[in-house]
Amino acid sequence: MDIRELRNCLGRFATGVTVVTCNDGGHCHGLTANSFTSVSLDPPLVLVSIDRETKAFDKLKDNRFIVNILSADQQETAMHFAGKTCEELPFEWNETEYGHRIKGSLAYVECEPWAEYDGGDHVLFLGKVVNFDYQDGEPLGFYSGKFSKIVQE
Ligand SMILES: Cc1cc2nc3c(=O)[nH]c(=O)nc-3n(C[C@H](O)[C@H](O)[C@H](O)COP(=O)(O)O)c2cc1C
Repeated sequence: MDIRELRNCLGRFATGVTVVTCNDGGHCHGLTANSFTSVSLDPPLVLVSIDRETKAFDKLKDNRFIVNILSADQQETAMHFAGKTCEELPFEWNETEYGHRIKGSLAYVECEPWAEYDGGDHVLFLGKVVNFDYQDGEPLGFYSGKFSKIVQE
C-alpha cells in the first residue's frame, strides 16, 4: 500500500483543530491534534490519538488533560504546538485546577484519564469529561493537509 496516498485519502476527512494540554510537573505541555473525537455521553468520554514519537505521548499517560478547540484566528497557536514554536506566544494562558487552557479558544473540555488503547504507531487516549465550556465563533478547520475555513450554511 502507498502510505502517502493513504494519508492523502484520509486527509479528505475535514476536521477542526485542537491543542491538547497537560501539566508535567510544574510545566505545561501542548500538542496540536485533529484526531479529537467525541465518544460517549454517558459516561462523557472523548478521545485523542497521539503519535508514540511525540513528547506528549509520555506526558499524557495516566494524566489529566484539556482539549482546547481552536477558533479560526488561532492558526499561529496551532503551528506553535505543532513544532513551529513562536518566540513570543501568540496566545495567553488560563490556569485552572486541571491544567492550562488557551484563552480565546472556541471551547474546552477538561478530562480525567479514563483508558488508553493501542492504536499502532499511535495510542488512543480516552478522557472522562469533568468540566467544559464553549462560545460562539468561527472554527479553525483542517483539510487535505492545510488549515481551512469551515463555512456554515
Ligand atoms: C493540524 C495538525 C493536526 C495534528 N494532529 C495530530 C494528532 O491528532 N495526533 C498527533 O499525535 N499529532 C498530531 N499532529 C502533529 C503534532 O502536533 C506534532 O507532531 C507536535 O510537534 C508534537 O509535539 P510534541 O512532540 O512536543 O508533543 C498534528 C499537527 C497538525 C499541524
